[in-house]
Amino acid sequence: MAQTILITGGTGFIGSHTVVELIEHGYDVVIADNLSNSKLEPLNRIERITGTRPRFHEVDMRDRDGMNALFEAEPGIQAVIHFAGLKAVGESVEKPLEYYENNINGTLVLCETMRAHGCKTIIFSSSATVYGENPVPYVETMQKLPASNPYGWTKWMIEEILTDLHTADPTWNVMLLRYFNPIGAHPSGLMGEDPRGIPNNLLPYVAQVAVGRRECVHVFGNDYPTADGTGERDYIHVMDLAAGHVAALEWMLAQPEPSVEIFNLGTGKGTSVLEIIRAFSDACGHEIPYVIDPRRPGDLPASWADATRAKEILGWEAKYDIAQMCADSWNWQSHNPEGYTD
Ligand code: NAD
Ligand code: UD1
Repeated sequence: MAQTILITGGTGFIGSHTVVELIEHGYDVVIADNLSNSKLEPLNRIERITGTRPRFHEVDMRDRDGMNALFEAEPGIQAVIHFAGLKAVGESVEKPLEYYENNINGTLVLCETMRAHGCKTIIFSSSATVYGENPVPYVETMQKLPASNPYGWTKWMIEEILTDLHTADPTWNVMLLRYFNPIGAHPSGLMGEDPRGIPNNLLPYVAQVAVGRRECVHVFGNDYPTADGTGERDYIHVMDLAAGHVAALEWMLAQPEPSVEIFNLGTGKGTSVLEIIRAFSDACGHEIPYVIDPRRPGDLPASWADATRAKEILGWEAKYDIAQMCADSWNWQSHNPEGYTD
């Protein structure tokens, strides 16, 4: 019988793509999301792509009764992939209480509910942000450095909370996946990133300029100590990231003993802002206008993964290049210029 996996935040960007990948690998998927940063439409898209409609529960992670009711209605949950959380860095600086409350409390209530129902296997969406100002490439064995914003601290702290949980009760099986910069979209053009308001992240911004929703890209600084002076990041195709979750889950469920494991999910390569703009211009077939602005406070010059551990242990590595990431982003954006419309 298919194993049942609960995906929190499963109507969001990374969650929805991971749901597709899980269904295609034969898993039975249940989604929990409060729709604070997503819509219901991805459920229709998932069904169109896979032929299966995942079960959906509209519930807030912090709602004890709601979470309990979910686990009662879905008695066979074997593992949880926990994507649900607020993720806008700038907003987290303005609303620290909301970010700590949502991300930390949501995780605590989720774990308490899991424990009460005998499910102690969790994969958590962490971030490269926990490496702080370590030198690149980032290796999992590096010490974590202080975060520069409340969002980053929530990732930092939830890693600690889940590690403490395993220390106190070694039957907890914990996987911390540190994502680099997820971009791209499902190759069908049916699913992609649909940020609310003005995008903070580079790729959705570039895509909206390409489609004519915004005037020009603002490049945040061209005086960094990098090859062309603009910031370098490890962009990873969201489908590669989704495949990384399936590889992580399969590996985890096959281990004889529960443990706490950390894996970077990145490509191991850095790409600059100007290289991204050029690659996206090639993908969409026209020039993308940009201006050079001052640096954005808190930005690092460069961030990329040492992706060796995931390859050696999980047998997973990213396979899509920047050209494909931009082509798939463009395919999504050009077919859905206003994102998901119901
Ligand atoms: P997203 O906003 O598209 O998805 C997150 C989902 O969680 C949304 O659908 C939102 O409605 C839901 N959610 C938020 N708070 C909730 C709550 N209290 N209860 C129930 N549902 C809730 O974001 P994403 O890009 O898909 O990111 C998924 C996870 O990966 C997040 O935890 C994010 O911090 C982490 N992450 C993302 C990136 C990135 O660049 N996108 C990088 C590193 C880590
Ligand atoms: C940001 C967050 C990080 C979070 C990640 C995913 C900060 C400091 N870091 O990462 O914690 O995990 O998003 O949500 O916010 N850029 C521009 N113009 C733009 C937007 C970005 O030039 O309009 C540049 C940035 O300076 C950076 C690169 O593009 O060099 C990537 O930026 P972005 O997509 O925001 O991701 P990160 O800053 O890496």
